[in-house]
Amino acid sequence: MNTIIQAGATPVFVDSREDTWQIDPEDVRRKITPRTKALMAVHLYGHACEMDALVNICKEFDLWLIEDCAEAFGTYYKGRHVGTFGDFATFSFFGNKTITTGEGGMVVARDKDLLDRAYHLKTQAVSPDREYWHDAVGYNYRMTNICAAIGLAQLENASPILEKKRQIAAWYQQGLEGLPLRLLGEYPDTTNSYWMCSIVVDDPNIRQPLRDWLKAANIETRPLFYPCHTLPHCKADETHPVAQSLSARGLNLPSFPELSLEGVTTVCTVIRSFFRSGANER
Ligand SMILES: Cc1ncc(COP(=O)(O)O)c(C=O)c1O
Repeated sequence: MNTIIQAGATPVFVDSREDTWQIDPEDVRRKITPRTKALMAVHLYGHACEMDALVNICKEFDLWLIEDCAEAFGTYYKGRHVGTFGDFATFSFFGNKTITTGEGGMVVARDKDLLDRAYHLKTQAVSPDREYWHDAVGYNYRMTNICAAIGLAQLENASPILEKKRQIAAWYQQGLEGLPLRLLGEYPDTTNSYWMCSIVVDDPNIRQPLRDWLKAANIETRPLFYPCHTLPHCKADETHPVAQSLSARGLNLPSFPELSLEGVTTVCTVIRSFFRSGANER
């Protein structure tokens, strides 16, 4: 969203889907106006947006499609890695991502000329064939060689990390079965990379008590993101009921790849003890 505003455009927010937590293509359709230029599909928490529907909308209305894959390294839609559907896609390699370079990220694009333009702008728009000649207003967005070297080493380890994350999610899925909550799983056509193992509890009033209960057992959790339209600089006086409800009910459980079955079992046991204790009914 910040990048949309920084580019001088106006973000228009749409609601999420309750099942996949991703952007709702039906709501996208409702929000398109003659001024709409682009659609940004943000693949959240390792799941994929419904790319068939979004690609079709972009074709129909002649819109650019930009995919934000910051949380979706290793995520596939219909067997294709996300980031390969749009005109441009961005990936984040910040320290909390599935693979990391400490800070930094990656841009991919369908069109070679556009990618060259992005490359040019990120390197202070220095001319490729005239020394110290800057021919546009550029940015210092390049990745350092040191970060890139870390990234290459991380890439070699990407498959085991992704496999382990899927294993952790399966352990949680099993360990939390039957409780009044839902883990973000895997909807048809998607391979979830499980950037985070995230749950929504049925009752928003127990989200914080459950977090406190886990904290008392030395288990750190994080709340789900606030919907962008509720942040102060968006000044969007609107309601997106599904996104707001998910945000109020959601939390991220420990998801780091070194987590053992024993660790996941402990988290699930503590969550079960919360529901058994009656603390959820107070
Ligand atoms: C969906 C999404 N987009 C963009 C970003 C920003 O990535 P970076 O910190 O590499 O700029 C993040 C970071 O957490 C993210 O989760």
